[in-house]
Amino acid sequence: MSTTSIDSLLHEERRFAPDPAFTAQAVAGPELYEQARADRLGFWAEQARALHWHRPFTETLDWSNPPFARWFHDGELNVAYNCLDRHVEAGNGDRVALHWEGEPGDSRTITYAELTAEVKRAANMLANLGVGQGDRVAIYLPMIPEAVVSMLAVARLGAIHSVVFGGFSAESIRARVEDADAKLVITADGGWRKGRVFPLKNAVDAALAAAETSVEHVVVVRRGENEVEWEEGRDLWWHDAMAQAEPEHEAQGFEAENPLFILYTSGTTGKPKGILHTSGGYLTQASFTHRVVFDLKPETDVYWCTADVGWVTGHSYMVYGPLANGATQVMYEGTPDTPHPGRWWEIIQKYGVTIFYTAPTAIRSFMKAGREIPLAYDLSSLRVLGSVGEPINPEAWVWYREIIGGGTTPVVDTWWQTETGAIMISALPGVTTTKPGSAQVPMPGISIDVLDEDGTHVGKEAGGLLVVTEPWPSMLRGIWGDPERFQETYWSKFGDKYFAGDGAHLDADGDVWLLGRVDDVMNVSGHRLSTMEIESALVSHPIVAEAAVVGASDETTGQAVVAFVILRSKKAKDVSATEASQLLRAHVAEQIGAIARPREIFVVAELPKTRSGKIMRRLLRDVAEGREIGDTTTLTDSTVINVITDTVR
Ligand code: PRX
Repeated sequence: MSTTSIDSLLHEERRFAPDPAFTAQAVAGPELYEQARADRLGFWAEQARALHWHRPFTETLDWSNPPFARWFHDGELNVAYNCLDRHVEAGNGDRVALHWEGEPGDSRTITYAELTAEVKRAANMLANLGVGQGDRVAIYLPMIPEAVVSMLAVARLGAIHSVVFGGFSAESIRARVEDADAKLVITADGGWRKGRVFPLKNAVDAALAAAETSVEHVVVVRRGENEVEWEEGRDLWWHDAMAQAEPEHEAQGFEAENPLFILYTSGTTGKPKGILHTSGGYLTQASFTHRVVFDLKPETDVYWCTADVGWVTGHSYMVYGPLANGATQVMYEGTPDTPHPGRWWEIIQKYGVTIFYTAPTAIRSFMKAGREIPLAYDLSSLRVLGSVGEPINPEAWVWYREIIGGGTTPVVDTWWQTETGAIMISALPGVTTTKPGSAQVPMPGISIDVLDEDGTHVGKEAGGLLVVTEPWPSMLRGIWGDPERFQETYWSKFGDKYFAGDGAHLDADGDVWLLGRVDDVMNVSGHRLSTMEIESALVSHPIVAEAAVVGASDETTGQAVVAFVILRSKKAKDVSATEASQLLRAHVAEQIGAIARPREIFVVAELPKTRSGKIMRRLLRDVAEGREIGDTTTLTDSTVINVITDTVR
């Protein structure tokens, strides 16, 4: 975030007190904060007891070996049982779990009883294919019910899923399947996006052809009806394998620390890290926060989180949190503007959505398209609006409340990360007087601080680095296969305080305003991308000698990827700058996925470097954002940056 926008953020003075009528009915009240303050561990133990335990736990937290936490570790539970069977057993089998809407307009309504039955069968199918406790299953699916069924079936067996976002390339699948040593992959022939079928299975085929792995089977859901290649013996159709599986499956309890999933996310180095989450603590915090942040009334609410299941928001707030709470939710396959720009609002109207959770990028692009689009629909069912994924600028926040929320619906801005597993900082809609642009207060039971570089608390009306000072139930348990990187990345800067990688400011009330990443991680449309990862993709192309990538601020996507490359004189001698830029944009999409494709690539003769050889990305960001160039005194050659500026202009 640029300095000017930080200033405007911190001068934001609009305040929205909760409506007393809302507060009177609210799920969460101010007493939660007091309870958690009085007895933090007791508070979390109480939240955990809202789940079903096959064997109750006796110890809440074991923090004897930081940063390796164990929560509720002597208890046993089954995550899928908590999301399914227990609701059916409580007499809520007929409640709708998923209102699924396909992009072409087909739809399915799935009750808790039906979802439970499908997951039981899928668990048997996976067990028949040799999947058992601790095995890794990669899932590369579009936003279809089978994605949810697959995750829960894996969880039911005590196995570990690794969902790979459907927009990632074959190369990204290869890296993830290999790193986790997955035994089985679940994919689809294709899915619907922007009015056409995009193929998926072929990417899995390409990934597996290149991978050194022991993947035994690929289970393929039929969705796109597109042609696929078939490897006899390895590939199976989902519907065939499901038909052969037994319908009954009894859920067994697993230790609370049994791994639940690995989810890869970008860090500051080129290689994505496999964030590991386990069962009891994760489900406790995902379900608790889902209930209180969104004021969930499972009997009457219709909840919709627009996140893709390939990201952590899809894991915690489309699968585990809502299903553990017995919520009725909408799941939508496609893009917001297909086949028309009002598609999302049409879906809200159709299902009477009451709670809506989306990202600032989406809100900003709707703002740009104009209020008349949402205003053509009946959005009066909405009663809570959530935001996640990146800092939300006050204008977008207020537009969200006014236009989507009819001027009365509370907006909660929720800060968290793949690593934190669940919401850490957010207003509570019946309690907090909200401030546009601020995530505000740590959740009950969560301890946050803002420190300066030396680890000293910054105090009010000051900025610094965001840390979590006490372990929390849904915290990551590690980086898959790399305990050293886990220690080094999060626990070396401030000892046993978790370093989040975000800058934050505390206002006069002590409320938290998030200011974006302080490391080389970019946030493009709420998706996390690493500058290093894109740089390595660029230099893997034979025409590139050197590359530097920056996240330049972008009105709609928050940040955008901008790359500066030096070409190899021989290899690139017949390539024009325009051709090189096109070629390399496509190359990055192929290496990582379309989300990483740079908005712009500039061919330059030199990169600005310090005397010790470090690329000064700060200056490149100035160039990319069309700003006055900052302090250049540490550059070896200060003319370099002027040449670059001229090239760009
Ligand atoms: O920089 C913060 C930003 O997104 C990062 C986490 O990205 P990821 O692991 O992909 O998870 C995104 C969904 C939880 C954070 O380090 N971020 C996320 N939510 C917010 C945010 N920044 C400001 N405000 C938020 N509400």
